[in-house]
Amino acid sequence: MVQRVAVVGGGSSGLVCIKVCVDEGLEPVCFESTDDIGGLWKFKDSTEPERSSIYRSLVVNTSKEMMCFSDFPMPAAYPNYMHNSQLLQYFRLYAEHFDLLKYINFQTTVKSVTQRPDFSVSGQWDVVTINRDGEEERHVFDGVLVCSGHYTHPVLPLSDFPGHETFSGKCFHSWDYKDADTCRGKRVVVVGIGNSGGDIAAEISRSAEKTFLSTRQGAWVIGRMSSNGLPLDMTAITRLNNILMQLIPKTLVNWAAERVLNQKYDHRLYGLQPRHRLLDKKPLINDDLPGRILQGALVMKPNLKGFNGSGVVFEDGTVEENIDAVVFCTGYNGNFPFLPPALSDGSKGELTLYKRLFPPSLQHPTLAVMGLFQTKGPIIPVVEMQARWAVKVFTGLSRLPSKEKMLAVIESERKRNMKSYSCPRQAALQVDYIPLLDFMADEVGVRPNFLRLLLRDPLLWVKVFCGPCTPYQYRLTGPGQWAGARQAILSQWERVAQPFRTRAIPEPEKTLSVLFSPWLLTFGGTVIMAVLLSKNEAVPVVQGAAQTLDRCTIFLKDIWS
Ligand SMILES: Cc1cc2nc3c(=O)[nH]c(=O)nc-3n(C[C@H](O)[C@H](O)[C@H](O)COP(=O)(O)OP(=O)(O)OC[C@H]3O[C@@H](n4cnc5c(N)ncnc54)[C@H](O)[C@@H]3O)c2cc1C
Ligand SMILES: *[C@@H]1O[C@H](CO)[C@@H](O)[C@H](O)[C@H]1NC(C)=O
Ligand SMILES: *[C@@H]1O[C@H](CO)[C@@H](O)[C@H](O)[C@H]1NC(C)=O
Repeated sequence: MVQRVAVVGGGSSGLVCIKVCVDEGLEPVCFESTDDIGGLWKFKDSTEPERSSIYRSLVVNTSKEMMCFSDFPMPAAYPNYMHNSQLLQYFRLYAEHFDLLKYINFQTTVKSVTQRPDFSVSGQWDVVTINRDGEEERHVFDGVLVCSGHYTHPVLPLSDFPGHETFSGKCFHSWDYKDADTCRGKRVVVVGIGNSGGDIAAEISRSAEKTFLSTRQGAWVIGRMSSNGLPLDMTAITRLNNILMQLIPKTLVNWAAERVLNQKYDHRLYGLQPRHRLLDKKPLINDDLPGRILQGALVMKPNLKGFNGSGVVFEDGTVEENIDAVVFCTGYNGNFPFLPPALSDGSKGELTLYKRLFPPSLQHPTLAVMGLFQTKGPIIPVVEMQARWAVKVFTGLSRLPSKEKMLAVIESERKRNMKSYSCPRQAALQVDYIPLLDFMADEVGVRPNFLRLLLRDPLLWVKVFCGPCTPYQYRLTGPGQWAGARQAILSQWERVAQPFRTRAIPEPEKTLSVLFSPWLLTFGGTVIMAVLLSKNEAVPVVQGAAQTLDRCTIFLKDIWS
């Protein structure tokens, strides 16, 4: 019988793991090496080795309705994309609401997690911790949830660049970057166009004399804002879109979406255009970058080649002289020094994980690694579902396939991703947001049944199917069902609107709003399109469209009543 579960780390993943364990009647014991919750999101003015570090201005890149825990919507007044301090505040509210703090041992670091000698029978783990007085303690656990994060070991590839030993400027990693104060009036090169690279380059360009952003690959840059100023992820991550994406050829979607993006700012003109297509990789989420390029404060450059005195040399042979600092936004290595070396493969300590969660080599699946993946959606709801599934597997209510089967799945998923990501490590990390959530939800028994939903609650069905795939969807049925889930879904757009209501503007008159109703717009659009497409065929096309629309209306009326 699995009873006691060790939770390594008290960041957002650790918190939700504690809660899920309690929900399932297990006894969680969380170890957190710092003196507070929040992990990554607890901003500090200085860095400490082996700890994550964020910059002062960091704002989330996923919106509040999409990134919250599934049974705890964010306060309605929160902005849709919040500052890091506000997200930390949300974690505090969550911990308080579910009374999670009492399970956390602060200033206690997990030193090692090893299989017990009788692991083949018991599936238990020896966990050694070091407490605040530096004393070692030994514990026995039935299960382990690893929530230690993976933004702790920055990759600084200095040795790849000749001349760095004699470079007169300063070189540092984005891990060391807090704000642009030290860059005032300087000439700075930022290397790498990940989310951090984009943010940091745009921020530095506001105080530096000149900022150069060097990128090997380029990137598709999208803002947080979708049409009507709504959160991008809420309009993009829907079940309907997910199905459409499978039906419509990928090249067509790429072509259309890239056109829309380029209409805002031509990626080729702006020096941003990557070789890959839009859907191949995670786009860069950044609202400021194009504007900074337009104003000339930020200058795009190709890949860094090396250094020469105070100059920085790029691969196209150009040299930027008198550079004061180079910021490497070159990412992190995953690192789990406390785990048995047998679990990681290769020299870089990478973990092979089934569905990005379970090491396939264990005789008993009583250890899971949370949050070690990349996706085009928010991380937190996926980690929550990982916790719900892991606990089901620990307690034997859900079973994993054989080791061979798991390895085969890992390999085929990696192979598929290699088409977009040439680096095997990156390829292994990528997961598809809704498909992975649904897969795990199936295992847990909480995936919404759409046919039943359609028949019983058509209004909710429309919201769940056509609207944003918000985490509340996984609390509608099954174990862990939450009575507030339905209402949370019905009121999600209300919470999106709330923070904007700071200046009352009277509602438009009804007649006008009818004119602009979605039905009429769709109908009007169809008519105009048909006429434009072909004047000869316009009549049948319009008739067909009208019929379809009619049928839809009747259908909707039917299910409503
Ligand atoms: C710059 C940046 C921006 C991001 N923005 C977003 C975003 O907008 N939306 C989103 O969904 N995700 C975002 N993410 C991803 C983010 O990693 C996740 O959202 C999530 O918060 C990670 O939480 P975690 O608990 O897994 O890890 P962390 O927050 O890193 O927490 C790990 C905790 O474990 C503790 N710990 C580590 N080792 C030990 C040990 N041996 N013993 C005891 N304790 C230990 C650490 O002290 C820490 O408190 C971002 C990441 C970065 C780096
Ligand atoms: C948000 O930023 C983090 C940190 O760079 C990144 O890992 C994550 O993938 C980004 N999220 C999205 C949806 O792009
Ligand atoms: C470095 O700069 C000096 C002077 O500008 C130049 O003569 C030399 O060729 C450069 N070296 C390299 C390797 O580019």
